[in-house]
Amino acid sequence: MLLPDGPKSPSIWQMFQWITTPFSFLRSCNHHYGDHFTVTFNQKFGPLVFFTDPEALKVILTGDDSELFDAPGELNAAFEPLLGSQSVIGLSGDRHRRMRQLLMPSFHGERMRSYGQVIQDITKEVMGEAVAGEPLYIRKIMQKISMRVILRAVFGLNEGPRYQQLECLLAKMLDKMSNPWKISFLFFTILRRNFGPLSPWASFVRDRQKIDQLVYDEIAERRNHPDDSRTDILNLLLSARDEAGEALTNGELRDELMTLLVAGHETTATAITWALYWIHKIPPVRKKLLAELQALDGLEDPSVIFRLPYLNAICSETLRIYPVGILTFPRVTRSRLELSGTSIEPGTTVVGCIYLTHHREDIYPDADQFRPERFLERRYSPYEYLPFGGGVRRCIGMAFAQFEMKLVISGILSCFELALANTRPVRPVRRGLTSGPSRFRMVINNRRRVNHSA
Ligand code: HEM
Repeated sequence: MLLPDGPKSPSIWQMFQWITTPFSFLRSCNHHYGDHFTVTFNQKFGPLVFFTDPEALKVILTGDDSELFDAPGELNAAFEPLLGSQSVIGLSGDRHRRMRQLLMPSFHGERMRSYGQVIQDITKEVMGEAVAGEPLYIRKIMQKISMRVILRAVFGLNEGPRYQQLECLLAKMLDKMSNPWKISFLFFTILRRNFGPLSPWASFVRDRQKIDQLVYDEIAERRNHPDDSRTDILNLLLSARDEAGEALTNGELRDELMTLLVAGHETTATAITWALYWIHKIPPVRKKLLAELQALDGLEDPSVIFRLPYLNAICSETLRIYPVGILTFPRVTRSRLELSGTSIEPGTTVVGCIYLTHHREDIYPDADQFRPERFLERRYSPYEYLPFGGGVRRCIGMAFAQFEMKLVISGILSCFELALANTRPVRPVRRGLTSGPSRFRMVINNRRRVNHSA
């Protein structure tokens, strides 16, 4: 098969670089081979063609469920051990479409706005537990907030032994998942074996069983005691029916709930952590944001906060410069077509490289600089700016994540004074299947109302 040029090193070495240093690997490919290139991570999966040109991305993401492209869930098999075989991420074609239709209403309009107060309350609750004056890993605090938010949104749970056990077990498991070595079995199926009770796979399976038991217990209890007044996602999914009038089975429910918990927790916590870093790294950014928040005069209306222009620009720039999801999920060409001036044969696996697209100097001058103003100066097309992907697999939680980012950041900045604990550089690193900042600490100096001159 004729493919665009790319690294010639053995696939195991390409995979190693992709796992350990994904950003420099991509930059090096971009430098040597231009705005589209072919990499091979393993022979079984085959070559992958990376695209960074918005014209090509437009063709891929507007045609990813047509005679031109397919968006097969089978190619997302890395997620299966965690999310299960019926997760929307692993489904294809009609089954994928059906599942998205059942899930989407939970993240729309009124329903989503109803999570606003919950997010604000949880931010205050968790920040209130943080010790002032000591250097703290702010990421851990953001993970706690996003875990509580997603558990509350998904299950409506906020107290009781089941909730506490779930919070603790999920946090433990997802923390392990952020270490690429502890989850090497997601990348290499050969490692999905019990090499003894202490091996990563055995420990993962044990944790997963405990979590599954709690999720199935909750589903059973909710089926036995239906309560129409509840507004959580599980309630919505329990009553949801597809076009054929079919309800979700327990297995489907477990896999979708797990998908939302996993996809919605780590990603959003990472994005908020990055945003807090940038806000405190660049004093003029912090000053402008504080001025915007002060103008609210203590008003905490979530829909007003959601529309604040500078806060929006900070969140957009945060997800541009180091996108949490480095790539879109893979798509496969169904027919021969021309992309970025290259003829691509049917059956080729292609991905949108979000990180390199967001670093194109022709679209984002001084792309390595954090400059929220660029989002106030011009509008970017959905193929120039795509932190949530696009097309038939566009992130289901996009609006929810943006809402949460804005409410948590504004809640923290309005009530607390934070500072970076030191000036050590913070780098983007791999965190499991996504990316995030290297470890850094912040100090919560004191609590105060927003002060214009701060
Ligand atoms: C800042 C936070 C987030 C980022 C950057 C992000 C990014 C992404 C990206 C890049 C994709 C792939 C899209 C594609 O291939 O076109 C995706 C898919 C997905 N995301 Fe998110 N996401 C975030 C938060 C969330 C949240 C909060 C949820 C749910 C609670 C969620 C649920 C999903 C699901 C279910 C999919 C798979 C959709 C499908 O296969 O049809 N994400 N996300």
